[in-house]
Amino acid sequence: MFKSKSKPVVLITGTSSGVGLHTALRFAQAGYTTIATMRDTGKQDDLLAQAKALKVKVHVEKLDVQKPKSIDACVKKVIRKYGRIDVLVNNAGAGFLGGIEQTTDADLERVMGINFFGVWRMTKAVFPHMREAGAGRIISVTSIGGLIGQPFNDAYCAAKFAVEGMMEAFAPLARRLGVQVSLIEPGPINTEFVASVRATSDLAGFEPPYAEILGKYMGATTNVFAEYGQTGDDIAAIIVEAATTDTPHFRYITSDFARQVVAPKVVDPTGDSVVEAFAARLT
Ligand SMILES: NC(=O)c1ccc[n+]([C@@H]2O[C@H](COP(=O)([O-])OP(=O)(O)OC[C@H]3O[C@@H](n4cnc5c(N)ncnc54)[C@H](OP(=O)(O)O)[C@@H]3O)[C@@H](O)[C@H]2O)c1
Repeated sequence: MFKSKSKPVVLITGTSSGVGLHTALRFAQAGYTTIATMRDTGKQDDLLAQAKALKVKVHVEKLDVQKPKSIDACVKKVIRKYGRIDVLVNNAGAGFLGGIEQTTDADLERVMGINFFGVWRMTKAVFPHMREAGAGRIISVTSIGGLIGQPFNDAYCAAKFAVEGMMEAFAPLARRLGVQVSLIEPGPINTEFVASVRATSDLAGFEPPYAEILGKYMGATTNVFAEYGQTGDDIAAIIVEAATTDTPHFRYITSDFARQVVAPKVVDPTGDSVVEAFAARLT
């Protein structure tokens, strides 16, 4: 894939924990110059300790995907120092639990800002360098929530659907210009994600009739993380595969469970079976 003799460079967003942290370690092990970005570099100790234990090097840089100046500064710095970005992994993301009535404009702007505008702006900042090189890979972590709408995930699913639409529209043109675009679509992953959803969503503030319906939904879904959850490293392995194979797919649904959840979308063009399946979890 890489024409030049210098080491390929990967830039990953959101590497303070979970999928991003493991993705940085795996790219470093695969011989990449690994730019592990995070919005709060005070959180780098875990990543650096794991890199040290594996005897690999990662380069931590500050990057907040909600801040355009932070994106531009980081991308410019990397290009100045290494002259190339071969792989961009849009991983940073955050969930939020709330229906339309529980989601404030500020919540919506935050969820769209992290999960969608961040991906758009990162891609826009990095793509010209790949286009000039005539090669590159852009890999974005969405979710089965980017394919299937789920109750109380209205804003999160809207943001992940937006990434899916953007990347499906972009992929053919990017490929024409030498750049491969891929989407990673996990189901549940056991990372810091659920704790961060709980910390940012006002679950105790749900009023009737929503409190009871949310309770039913949570009851019907709590086991999925324990029974079907993947690890951050499981997803990282798939991301590195998408970056290194000669023939990357556009879409990687990451587990049998995730494929099973998404299947009705593909086989029922009316969309009714998806709505019915989730409606059943609310009673
Ligand atoms: N866990 C799941 O069940 C699941 C399922 C499907 C898809 N996903 C997707 O997988 C990706 C990785 O999530 P994860 O499971 O690894 O969760 P995680 O452990 O919570 O990691 C999320 C990462 O995103 C970072 N982040 C949040 N806002 C940011 C911002 N404005 N700028 C830069 N970084 C930011 C977080 O940094 P801080 O530490 O500073 O908050 C953290 O490093 C996300 O895109 C998520 O939507 C997760």
